[in-house]
Amino acid sequence: MIEVLERERTFHLSTEHTSMILHVMESGHVVSLYWGGKVYGKEFSYIVDELKKASYLAWTDGNRNFRLEQYPVLYPVFGNPDLRSPALHLRYEDGSRITNLRYSSYRVLSGKQKIPGLPTVMDRSEDGKESDEATLELVFADRSRGIRLKLLFSVFGKHDAITQSAVLINDSKGSVWVEKVMSACFSFLADEFDCITLTGAWAREFRRTRQSLRQGKFLVDSRRGASGHGQNPFLALTDPGCTEDTGNVYGMNLVYSGSFEASVEVDMQHNTRMMMGIQSFDFSWELHSGEEFYTPEAVLVHSDRGLNGMSQIFHRLYRERLMPPNWAERPRPIAVNNWEATYFDFDRKKLLDLADEAAGIGAELFVLDDGWFGHRNSDGSSLGDWKVNEEKLGGSLKNLGQEMKERGLGFGIWMEPEMVSPDSDLFRAHPDWIIAAPLEEPQVARNQYVLDLSRKCVREFVIEAVAEILEGGVIDYVKWDMNRNITDAFSGELFPGNQKELMHRYMLGLYGILEELTERFPEILFEGCAGGGGRYDPGMLYYMPQIWVSDDTDAIERLRIQDGASLIYPSVSMSCHVSAVPNHQIGRITPLKTRGIVAMQGVLGYEQDLTKCTEKGKKELAEQIGYYKTVRHIMQEGTFYRLRAGENDYAWMHISRDGSEILAGYVQVMAKPNTVPERLQLKGLEEKAWYALEGTDIVRTGSQWIHCGLELDQSMEDYHAVQWGLRRVEMP
Ligand code: DGJ
Repeated sequence: MIEVLERERTFHLSTEHTSMILHVMESGHVVSLYWGGKVYGKEFSYIVDELKKASYLAWTDGNRNFRLEQYPVLYPVFGNPDLRSPALHLRYEDGSRITNLRYSSYRVLSGKQKIPGLPTVMDRSEDGKESDEATLELVFADRSRGIRLKLLFSVFGKHDAITQSAVLINDSKGSVWVEKVMSACFSFLADEFDCITLTGAWAREFRRTRQSLRQGKFLVDSRRGASGHGQNPFLALTDPGCTEDTGNVYGMNLVYSGSFEASVEVDMQHNTRMMMGIQSFDFSWELHSGEEFYTPEAVLVHSDRGLNGMSQIFHRLYRERLMPPNWAERPRPIAVNNWEATYFDFDRKKLLDLADEAAGIGAELFVLDDGWFGHRNSDGSSLGDWKVNEEKLGGSLKNLGQEMKERGLGFGIWMEPEMVSPDSDLFRAHPDWIIAAPLEEPQVARNQYVLDLSRKCVREFVIEAVAEILEGGVIDYVKWDMNRNITDAFSGELFPGNQKELMHRYMLGLYGILEELTERFPEILFEGCAGGGGRYDPGMLYYMPQIWVSDDTDAIERLRIQDGASLIYPSVSMSCHVSAVPNHQIGRITPLKTRGIVAMQGVLGYEQDLTKCTEKGKKELAEQIGYYKTVRHIMQEGTFYRLRAGENDYAWMHISRDGSEILAGYVQVMAKPNTVPERLQLKGLEEKAWYALEGTDIVRTGSQWIHCGLELDQSMEDYHAVQWGLRRVEMP
C-alpha cells in the first residue's frame, strides 16, 4: 500500500509487516526517514527535523543550518553538497559533473510495470486474484541541465517486498554521459550493523561472509560481465546480534546478471548508506537528447525475524513473482545428466545404456551434456557450430530424443550459445563477431571467445541457431551454460567514445535473446549454468527457473554452498545432483544416502555412470528417487528453514504449503567422540497442532518438536545424514 501524506510531504510505503517512509524536504531533497517493521502514524518528519547540525560540512543552498551531508538522502547525486558516495554521477558536454536534482512531482500507479529490456519481479495480478501491488513514481529534475530522474518503488504487500529502480531522461539538446547510476540506495541514521555478503570461487560458491561495519566503505562487486562465482548481487545489513530467527535484516538483491556493485558506506556522522546497481567501474553511457536509461531493479526486503525471515520473503517472491509462471508450480523432473558419467567420451550405445539405467531407477529426464555437436570431443572446439554430430550420436538428435521418449524419459541438451571456439566454422566465417580489443591477440579462456551480443547480427545468429535445434518438439530441457567471463572488453561496432557501454549492452543483448527464446519455447525447461553458480542471480531466474548451483557435486562441499544460496534463492531453483564417489572435484567418499539427502534440499538429479552401479546400488537409487517423488512438492512449494549451519553440522527443513507435511534433513560432517545426546529443534510448526514422525508411532505437538526437538542419533560415522518426515495429524 502507498499512502501519501500530502501536508507532510511524506510517502508511506507499507507491506504486510514492513514500512518504508520517504519525505520531501523544504529544499526539494528527498530523504529516507525509515525502513523496518511496520509503523503507524501521520507524522514522521521529526526524524530529520530533530537532527543536530554537524560541523565542517558544506552548507546547502547558502543555508548555514542545512548540511545535506548529514541527512539520509534517498538518492544522492554527485555535485550536491553531500560528499559521500553518490548513487548518480553524470558528466556534461561542458565538462561539468555537477547535477542538482530536486523533487518535482509524484504519481501512484496501480500494479507493477515491466522495465523495458530487463527482467523484473512481475505483477501477476492477472492470475485472477486482486493485486496488492502498487508503484510510487517520484520525479526529480535539474532544470538548468534538462535532466529528469524517476525513482520507481513497487510495493508487494503480501510478499513483504519492495522493488526499486531508476529511469534517467535527457530533455536537453546535447548528450549526457552517465558515469554511475544505481538502482537502489538507502540511508540509515545509524551505524551499528553487520554486513552479510556471499563470496567464494568456482566450485565453492555462496560462502556466507559476515563482518561488522566500521567507518569507511565496503564494496562487493563484479567486473566480469557476469554476476560471478566469487560474489552475488546481494548484500544484507543486520543488527549485530541478528540470528537465523531473531533481529532486523535489510537485504538487497539486484535483478541483473552482469557486472554489478553493492556498497555500504559508514560516514563521519555514524550514518550508513547502502546501494546497489550496475558496476560503475569502466562504465559510461552516452544518453542522447530525448533518450531514457533504465536501471535494473533491486529487491529490498526487511525482516525482523532474522535471516530465515529474510530468506522466506525472497523465496516466496521469486517463486510467485519472478520465475516463469508456467514452471514455478510444475514438478521439476528428476534428471540423469551424462556429464560426470562420460564427459566428452560417449557414443549412442553408451547414452542409451545410461538411459536404460536412468529409466530403470525411475528418473524422468535424460540430459545430454557437452560434446554432441560439431566435432567437439574436448573443450577445444566447435562452440558456435550448433550442428548435431550424427556420427557420434549414431543418428539425429530427434532420433535420440525419440529413444528417450520410448523409455519414458524427457530429453534435454546442453548448449553454450554465448560462446565461440577459435576452432569453429562460425569463427572462421565471422572472426569479427567476438569481444576483443584492437591491436591485441584476443584472450582465450577455456579455449573460447565471447560472442559480442551487443551486435544485432550476432544476436540474430544465436537466436536462429538455438531455435533450429529446439524446433521439432523433441527437446524438453536446455542447460544454458556460460564458461568464461569477458576480459578484453571492446566491441567492433561501438564508437570509441561508447566502448564503456559494452558490458551493459551485452546483458541487454543476452536478455533480448532469452526473452525471445523463452517466449518461442515456453514448454522447454531452461536451466541456467555458468561453470556452476557463476551467474546465479534473479536476472537469470526470470528466464530460467532452475540453476546448476555449483560444479562441485561433493555432498559435504554442497552443504555450505547450498546453505549460502538458500539465503536468497528458493530450493526449487537449485539444481542438485548426486554424483559418484570418490567425488570428481574433491576425491571425498560419502554414503549414497548422504548424497541423496543433500541433493533433495533442491531439485534432485544424478550424474554418474549408472551402468557401473551394482544391483544393490541401483535398488538404493530407485528407492531414493521413489521417496523423493513423494516429497518433492514439499521442497518445491514449501517454506524453508535453516536449522543449523555450523562448521560440523547442517540441518534444514521444509514445511509444505498447507502446513501438513514436513521434511527435515541433517548432516554431521565429522563424527564426534564422547558426546552427549543432542536434539534438533524444529521451526515454524503450529505450537498446538499434533505431528507424527513418519516410520514411528511418535506423535507430539508442534511446541514439543520446536522446543524439545528431535533426537539426533549419535553416529560414529563421518558424513552421516538423517532425513525425517513429519505429518500433521488429529489429536491422538
Ligand atoms: C560446465 C558445467 O558447469 C558442467 O556441468 C558441464 O556442463 C560442463 N560445463 C560442460 O562443458
